[in-house]
Amino acid sequence: MDTSITKDIAYCQKLLRNNELVAIPTETVYGLAANIFEADAVRDIFKMKGRPLFNPLIVHIHNVNQLETLVEYVPKAAEVLMQNFWPGPLTLILPKKENVSDLITAGKSTVGVRMPKHPVARKLLEGLEFPLAAPSANPFTKVSPTSAEHVASYFGTKIPAILDGGPCEVGLESTIIGFEGDTPVVYRKGGVPIEAIEQLVGKVKLLTQDENAPVAPGMLLKHYSPNTKLIISEAVDEDIKKHANLSIGVISFSKKDYQNVSVTKTLSKKRDMSEAAKHLFSALHQLDQMNLDLIIAEKFPEEGLGISINDRLERAAY
Ligand code: TXA
Ligand code: MG
Repeated sequence: MDTSITKDIAYCQKLLRNNELVAIPTETVYGLAANIFEADAVRDIFKMKGRPLFNPLIVHIHNVNQLETLVEYVPKAAEVLMQNFWPGPLTLILPKKENVSDLITAGKSTVGVRMPKHPVARKLLEGLEFPLAAPSANPFTKVSPTSAEHVASYFGTKIPAILDGGPCEVGLESTIIGFEGDTPVVYRKGGVPIEAIEQLVGKVKLLTQDENAPVAPGMLLKHYSPNTKLIISEAVDEDIKKHANLSIGVISFSKKDYQNVSVTKTLSKKRDMSEAAKHLFSALHQLDQMNLDLIIAEKFPEEGLGISINDRLERAAY
């Protein structure tokens, strides 16, 4: 495959200064990045992804001082969350300042901000004079990439550079938290478990899903979709029997092999939820390339990152 994968951070900085797009590694998933202050470059992100303009982008920073130019104020609860989870897989939705364009925020009065932890992303951002707008580096509604190769399989050489930072450590997109007054509201379940957030700032409000009026389009029900049909199962052996005539791939938390299937992808033999999250999208990418008739995914325990994993599986199954 012809790709534009590179490890040259300085070269990627140069491209970004020239208003080109660069795919960047973060600890959650790979992002498709551009200078937030260059409208044409930001528009190219939407075009490359086939993403509707009503879906706002997350702004990536490396230093909290950068918030001054981006947001009007920071609620107390947001400050607590920043202190505990930045840098890391948490995006905060905050009231925006005027110099953040409507293109970034899809006309909303708020902007999503995140400080990634990945050392390559940090080094890249530290050398730039501007923050980076970056959605996940996948075509609209497709599974997010957790390696440079995943990005290349989607876009080949259409992106001028794909900065290789290895496989993503977290493997799920950031948890997105907004605020109603000082009350935290969960816009997207993700790399920081809700329990960890509630321990610090008390009970959070969960947004209910409404396919017609998504508050965060990451809440769109059909999202993260592989091309292969996927079902979630609490009784995998029975579901395998029901579909005995099909070629099946299974996504399992910890079981090594299921009988009578083409392949089993085990996410964590030692039942470690973080390890399972890290391997989830990569398993989906691999199974989707095997020409299977059906993917059966075990339902995960509804706690910690298991809640975020089930959320992604439900959207992949929709
Ligand atoms: O982990 C991540 O968050 C990755 C990495 C690259 O940082 N980025 C990511 O971006 O997942 P994206 O665009 O695929 O998902 C961002 C979600 C979208 O669902 C978008 O609607 C929501 O964040 N969002 C962004 N700004 C928002 C805002 N002002 N209000 C509500 N939702 C917002
Ligand atoms: Mg995305």
